[in-house]
Amino acid sequence: MSDNDVILAVDTVHATYVNAITALNGVSFEIRRGEMLALLGANGAGKTTTLKAISNLLPAERGQVSAGTIRYDGGDVSRRKPGDLVRAGLVPVLEGRHCFKSLTVEENLVTGGIGRGGRRAEINADLERVYSYFPRLREKRRTLSGLTSGGEQQMTAIGRALMSRPRLLLLDEPSMGLAPLIVQDIFQTLKKLNRETGLSILVAEQNSAVALRYADHAAVLENGVSVLSGAAADLRQREDIRAFYLGQQPPPAAKPSHLHAVA
Ligand SMILES: Nc1ncnc2c1ncn2[C@@H]1O[C@H](COP(=O)(O)OP(=O)(O)O)[C@@H](O)[C@H]1O
Ligand SMILES: [Mg+2]
Repeated sequence: MSDNDVILAVDTVHATYVNAITALNGVSFEIRRGEMLALLGANGAGKTTTLKAISNLLPAERGQVSAGTIRYDGGDVSRRKPGDLVRAGLVPVLEGRHCFKSLTVEENLVTGGIGRGGRRAEINADLERVYSYFPRLREKRRTLSGLTSGGEQQMTAIGRALMSRPRLLLLDEPSMGLAPLIVQDIFQTLKKLNRETGLSILVAEQNSAVALRYADHAAVLENGVSVLSGAAADLRQREDIRAFYLGQQPPPAAKPSHLHAVA
């Protein structure tokens, strides 16, 4: 694979909070352009910290990358401000579906376009595009976000990210707290965006079943360390992997060995 095919390269990243708490202890994976990658791991494995490291948001939480490198489009992300990364197309959707509750759905979406410095005509075209992917948001465009459902708020958070015209979208546990049918709906839309527009997607999930159904590849974290990576279709068939690394069933006697383990 040529370097040019890789939109994001995370290489042996270590990260700490308040110079004391080790959160990441060797995280490595790559995302090719146009790929959807699932970052899997149990609660506390380091998924959120990894996404914040990629977006250069750790310093704002008294955290830091203490070793390793993260390159987006070939450039070191630690040299760029989070806002500059967003303008370069690296756009995070943080955990907990942050919306402005007292703004309408449409006003929330528009805030995503303003960050890009878009003109009104461009913003309107982008709104239409978001509504074509999330018809529910068109129906709710004049409703205050605080009065919409959890699923609609998650769609609004994703829609707002789309308004800044991402090339790599980072999503932190979009399934959290949502009913299974809504989760399917959201993942189907993400996959459609990925297929139709070539948008690269990194989705962190504890819900490995749904993430592995839609992702192309997956990388698994355990206690801040990359332990496994492979094609999603391969990992999906391995119940033992889900049990061992994702804490979804009692662990089997031995660690699974067939898939490519990260050194
Ligand atoms: N702001 C923080 N300050 C100190 N420790 C943190 C902070 N955020 C996360 N951690 C710790 O870092 C580790 C990884 O957490 P996190 O990245 O949130 O995992 P995940 O998203 O996979 O649940 C955990 O041990 C967690 O307690
Ligand atoms: Mg998390």
